[in-house]
Amino acid sequence: MKGHFQISDTIRCDVLIIGAGGAGLRCAAEILENRPDTNVIALTKVSHPQKSHTATAQGGLAAVDPKDPADRPIFHMFDTWKGSDCMADQNVIQKISEASWQQIIWLENRGMHFSRDNMGNLSKRTFGGHTINFGEAPAYRAVFEADRTGKGILDTAWGETIKRGITFMDQSIAVELLFKDNQCAGCVVFKQKEGKFLRILSKATVLATGGCGQVYKVTTNCRQNTGDGLALVLQAGLPVMDPEAVQFHPTGIVGPGILASETLRSIGGILRNKDLEPFMQRYAPRMKELAPRDLVARAIETEIREGRGVLNPDHKIEHIWIDLRHLPENVHDEQIPEVTGFFKKFVNLNPKTDLCPVRPSVHYHMGGIPTNEFGEVETMERAVVPGLFAVGECAAASFHGFNRLGTNSILELITMGKFAGQRVLEYLNDFPRSTPEPKPLFSEAQFSSYLEAKGKDNLGKIREHLRSTMTEKVGVFRIEKEINKGIEILKELKERAEKTALSEKSLILNPELITRWELDNLLAVAMVIARAALRRKESRGAHYREDYPERLDEFNDHTLIRMPQFDTVETGSRRVDMSIFEARGEHHENFGRIARIY
Ligand code: FUM
Repeated sequence: MKGHFQISDTIRCDVLIIGAGGAGLRCAAEILENRPDTNVIALTKVSHPQKSHTATAQGGLAAVDPKDPADRPIFHMFDTWKGSDCMADQNVIQKISEASWQQIIWLENRGMHFSRDNMGNLSKRTFGGHTINFGEAPAYRAVFEADRTGKGILDTAWGETIKRGITFMDQSIAVELLFKDNQCAGCVVFKQKEGKFLRILSKATVLATGGCGQVYKVTTNCRQNTGDGLALVLQAGLPVMDPEAVQFHPTGIVGPGILASETLRSIGGILRNKDLEPFMQRYAPRMKELAPRDLVARAIETEIREGRGVLNPDHKIEHIWIDLRHLPENVHDEQIPEVTGFFKKFVNLNPKTDLCPVRPSVHYHMGGIPTNEFGEVETMERAVVPGLFAVGECAAASFHGFNRLGTNSILELITMGKFAGQRVLEYLNDFPRSTPEPKPLFSEAQFSSYLEAKGKDNLGKIREHLRSTMTEKVGVFRIEKEINKGIEILKELKERAEKTALSEKSLILNPELITRWELDNLLAVAMVIARAALRRKESRGAHYREDYPERLDEFNDHTLIRMPQFDTVETGSRRVDMSIFEARGEHHENFGRIARIY
């Protein structure tokens, strides 16, 4: 396609944000509030920033209210550490937990409508793994806007950035990061509507591309969550961290896998098997339905494996039930109106009167682009990559370790968005020179190969094969033989993808071209997940190896993995920060390698 690939223009800005969901916009808002003359461009892959995946977040945002007589940030830190299976970084846990309430104030002062009780106070709900007094009783720590909290956050952050003069580029994808002397200097952007490649040169570049749930067959994630940011750093020879840590939300609506919020269990929903037994007491005697997600997801899959699931006649998928029939009418109407609508729409059932079918659905990637606590991207050797930042689900600082607690992701994206914004401002202050002007190295060959391939195959079928392979071979339960089979299949799918001709060769608004590019991203991310899952010969949080069912101290470090060429991997590790434990302050004993009993 020589001639097709031409950089039609070069644009310059101070800050380029790749991805315009909650994390990217919170970061942009921080920058623009503090330095209004900053030229910030935000790319979004979708048609409008408000279509970002953050909008689908339902249940709430964890934050310790300083006026709460029962709760304290140290309890939140403990829950996050224990929930992470002792793999979150304690400096990050402390920084985020202690900053949490300021973020609620930030959001509310800018117009977010948090739900309030009859006394006018902010309403709070419990969520899995959140406790007071180091596990003594459930904590009421999640503030929320009914069951559409993410939409409130996204609208608020979006409004702030619009007001302060951000430039959005919609339906635009970053296809290559640009570097000069190891400093990130922007990226190559493909604008789908125009069918044009641009070079955006920026002093600072922030990756905020969201998750990679589409690597799996059943997911709560939007169609656009194809791990694009992870693929970009892999292409650049940088590592990703803990890719094997993939969260399955216990309750996806059977069939589409759409999120049925943990709120349902927080307000008293009961999980039942085909005999209508409330089985969670066998797996988590104290916390039951409010145990962390990794435990609940495995409990549900175990019930199904052992023959206590129910077959859904339409989807031919086995599931268990969530029972909400006993809840008061006003709780249904006021606290879970969205989810009720989803059950009606997708399975034609009314949670007020019917048992509702649910099964684990891939929800969140704890792994991601390794950063420090300021959101600066790091290399395999822990050197900061000048000019490159990452926030939100695509990043791993790591606040969640190997299992994220519900409501901690929105907290993380909003606080890390702010922290990264502050760091970007410092970086801009110190920015010594004019922006370098590197040339692209990869994107021309990559897009040329898409347009030049001549073989007959079906990209949709390859994508679906990839997704079912990951679900079957690198899913809730993992075992060496099956992971190896999965890796072999991924290699075959890569070969097939490379040969597949596009039926439509236009560059302008060609969804097939984007599907092809996304397929490469999905394959790259799937391969590093599988390779890291194979290497971690232990069970840790959401990563459960049937052949190594115990947690082992020799795997106490984070995984780092680079993949400069498909399936040519180099692995390393990063020490988990245990500064709270090492400081030997009050309650430090709760931050050692504690057991996870719920
Ligand atoms: O279940 C939920 O509402 C999801 C919340 C979260 O993932 O934090």
